[in-house]
Amino acid sequence: MKQIVVLTGAGMSAESGISTFRDAGGLWEKYPVMQVASHDGWEADPVLVNQFYNERRRELLSVRPNRGHELVAQLERLFKVSVVTQNVDNLHERAGSSHVIHLHGELMKATSSLDPNNPQFIETLNAEHCNIAPGQKAKDGSLLRPFIVFFQEAVPMIETAAEEVSKANILIIIGTSLNVYPAAGLVHYAKPGIPIYLIDPKPVSVRINGVTFIQKGASDGMEELTQLLTAVE
Ligand code: OAD
Repeated sequence: MKQIVVLTGAGMSAESGISTFRDAGGLWEKYPVMQVASHDGWEADPVLVNQFYNERRRELLSVRPNRGHELVAQLERLFKVSVVTQNVDNLHERAGSSHVIHLHGELMKATSSLDPNNPQFIETLNAEHCNIAPGQKAKDGSLLRPFIVFFQEAVPMIETAAEEVSKANILIIIGTSLNVYPAAGLVHYAKPGIPIYLIDPKPVSVRINGVTFIQKGASDGMEELTQLLTAVE
């Protein structure tokens, strides 16, 4: 069975009603990114950072996966599929994708601020308990923080993701401006010559050859690409 890696960004969830970061009206226009999503920002004002992610969590609970997420999940009927996502939402999982690697963390999880990647301290939030309250403590007694990879922090899943990309027979990139490293560098781990498809309504610059650009939104783009891939298989 051929292996597909789908690399996704905020544009994947745009049609579910979640704002992207860098488009006009995007999240980083409304909130100063270094205040709400950086390690320094967390140290300076954890209450503000928790409030920002509490809001994101409530938003996530009010939306659903879109047709694009569903079609990505359905690729598993014909291919071995890994989704490598920069998104912290759980819409790929809710649409049925069974192998999702989250590069930037997961919104529905919280963790220790002293040892954030220690699985012992990672807790799952739910609809009834989705807020982190000011001063709330993690299991190790440190301040409870969102399980999000802040700017200025290492990306622990990057090596796992790079290995997946290097094994792919087909790479699909959906809805990412490819501005943020190391995620954006993952495309360079693709084996030379494999088909690479990029779905985005706006032109995105990828500095590799042979990329087939489908200039559409995630749902329409995935409809087109599914037809293309199923015709070949
Ligand atoms: P960006 O906001 O930088 O890029 C979103 C991309 O989605 C753009 O290329 C848009 O053209 C595209 N887009 C918009 N609507 C779309 C649609 N309906 N269908 C498909 N694509 C659409 O978001 P990311 O590249 O995901 O990190 O940003 C990467 C990281 O920067 C995020 O994970 C986040 C952010 O800071 C952290 O917070 C750690």
